[in-house]
Amino acid sequence: MSPNQSTVVALYSQHLDTLQQRTAEALQRGGFDHLVVPSGTSHYQLFDDRDYPYATNPQFKHWVPLTRNPGSWLVATPGRRPKLIYLQPFDYWHVVPEAPRGYWTEHFDIVVIRTPDEALQHLPVNAARCAILGEGQSAVGDFVPNNPPAVLAYLDYQRAYKTPYEVAMMREASRVGARAHRAAERAFRAGASEFGIHLVYCQSAMQDANDLPYNNIVALNEHGAVLHYTDRDRLPPRQARSFLIDAGASHHGYACDITRTYAHDRNGEFQALVNAVDNAQQTMCAHVRAGFDYKQLHLDAHLSLARILRDFRLINVAPEVAVETGVSSAFFPHGIGHGIGLQVHDVAGFAESDRGGTIPKPQGHPYLRLTRVLEPGMAVTIEPGLYFIDMLLEELKDKGLGPSVNWDRVAAFKPFGGIRIEDDVVCTDGDPLNLTREQFAAAA
Ligand code: GLY
Ligand code: MN
Ligand code: MN
Repeated sequence: MSPNQSTVVALYSQHLDTLQQRTAEALQRGGFDHLVVPSGTSHYQLFDDRDYPYATNPQFKHWVPLTRNPGSWLVATPGRRPKLIYLQPFDYWHVVPEAPRGYWTEHFDIVVIRTPDEALQHLPVNAARCAILGEGQSAVGDFVPNNPPAVLAYLDYQRAYKTPYEVAMMREASRVGARAHRAAERAFRAGASEFGIHLVYCQSAMQDANDLPYNNIVALNEHGAVLHYTDRDRLPPRQARSFLIDAGASHHGYACDITRTYAHDRNGEFQALVNAVDNAQQTMCAHVRAGFDYKQLHLDAHLSLARILRDFRLINVAPEVAVETGVSSAFFPHGIGHGIGLQVHDVAGFAESDRGGTIPKPQGHPYLRLTRVLEPGMAVTIEPGLYFIDMLLEELKDKGLGPSVNWDRVAAFKPFGGIRIEDDVVCTDGDPLNLTREQFAAAA
């Protein structure tokens, strides 16, 4: 066993201890005896027998590193070893999951079933005593997901605090993602199309739509201004000026979420603007510290980006005024980031406590996805951006804010689309751990 592997084995064991403790508390709060979690089932396209890529129930993959096992179940009962009901069907149409193996199996009582309904023989006797977390279509017999709010509120809130095992999984996802980002940059510099760069990325990561945590955004030139651009032109543009890539990777069910922006001309003004956003982004990452309010991080980002807009003469008002009047929001129209883990946009971003409640978004910032105060173990993205989006710039004019903007300068930058720099950062007791920068450095 490699040292890395022995570390993972130890970390996984601690991770399960944490989940057991959290489960005991959650069940007590909800008044249940067992936690029951189906892995999920395939979804089909409308009026069709084609399935979408299978996505595992995150509550299930929190326990086991299994992402291709529809029809399986996890049962956790305080004081007992957790049970895994593992579906290994007789099926010659699909690849049947291998028999369970690996470092994690020794922690479970595992029963193999051959049909989904056989799960009933191994689930607890009384479904009414179970908190069943999942979607309706996973039901078998009486085991219909009930998603008790008290149980979910507790588990989802706590899920923001990653165990060291989870951080290790996210580090591995980041390693794969950073290497693929390097390959994508090389393809851009070699003149590939958006589609071609996407294929290079997938090849390098060895992942495709079945594995990637979200749809890759691969945008050349003006396409960088479309926040969720997923079209991917098949042919290269006549002149590739800029490249924005937002692409992740998965490892054992955990995600990374990385964005980089490149200028073709490394000596031009767009590169200078990228550098300015990159510097500001690193300062923001340094604020991922225990006790720092993530809402404030978002508001501070507006001021810092507005300063860049003024330094590059894109606006001609004071940065504070640009933030106050909403001018900065036309250039930075999304949130500074979100929690990340088993889901690229992790749950409970607005949770006030582990008993429920909502921390509202700051007024005028509808797209922020995380409003909690940072604490050790939280993993978040930091993803400031500046874009040249016609629709939003026109709105500024309509609101009478046109004079705040230097339109000649906007016209000069518009052919480059936009900039986003995104890292995944873990809050610790001390300095932040930037998984993305660490793995980019290693992949150099
Ligand atoms: N890639 C999705 C996001 O950055 O939130
Ligand atoms: Mn993100
Ligand atoms: Mn992203």
